[in-house]
Amino acid sequence: MARDRTFVLLKPDAIHRGLVGEVVGRFERRGLKLVALKSMRVSRALAETYYAEHKRKPFFDGLVKYVTRSPVVAMVLEGEGAVGVVRKMMGTTNSAEAEPGTIRGDFGLTIGRNLIHGSDSPASAKREIDLFFRREELLEYERIDEGWLAE
Ligand code: RTP
Ligand code: MG
Repeated sequence: MARDRTFVLLKPDAIHRGLVGEVVGRFERRGLKLVALKSMRVSRALAETYYAEHKRKPFFDGLVKYVTRSPVVAMVLEGEGAVGVVRKMMGTTNSAEAEPGTIRGDFGLTIGRNLIHGSDSPASAKREIDLFFRREELLEYERIDEGWLAE
């Protein structure tokens, strides 16, 4: 099994709307392994580092307020092509345009409350995993279906 990993953050609207189980369940059923999972609050400092690439964008302040306002759920998922698979399952950034069948396309209406973040490349995944998790929080175990998910 490939050890590709991605970082996912369920944003405060996903928690407040009771969608955590639904979204985590989709990833589990797809065959992605939960390597780490925790609920937490994002501090202002962490949000500013995490979203550093958007620092000069007009939506930056609103984005930092949104993710620091209330608890989030952070996770690390593993499986072949995990970064790309999760991005496809999330749907496009603007929920209004996201395809039905995707998380944003099934549960969201706007870009400003789009429920979920997923790393956009393996390099971002590594950076984000290191930002949110300590090494000992990443767990080693085998899923019972691992032998049936890839040749
Ligand atoms: P994400 O990083 O959250 O997975 O989403 P993404 O790659 O699809 O989108 P990105 O361009 O990285 O934007 C990060 C987050 O900023 C918020 N955003 N708001 N109001 C706006 O015009 C706007 N544009 C982006 C969204 O929460 C987006 O997920
Ligand atoms: Mg992004």
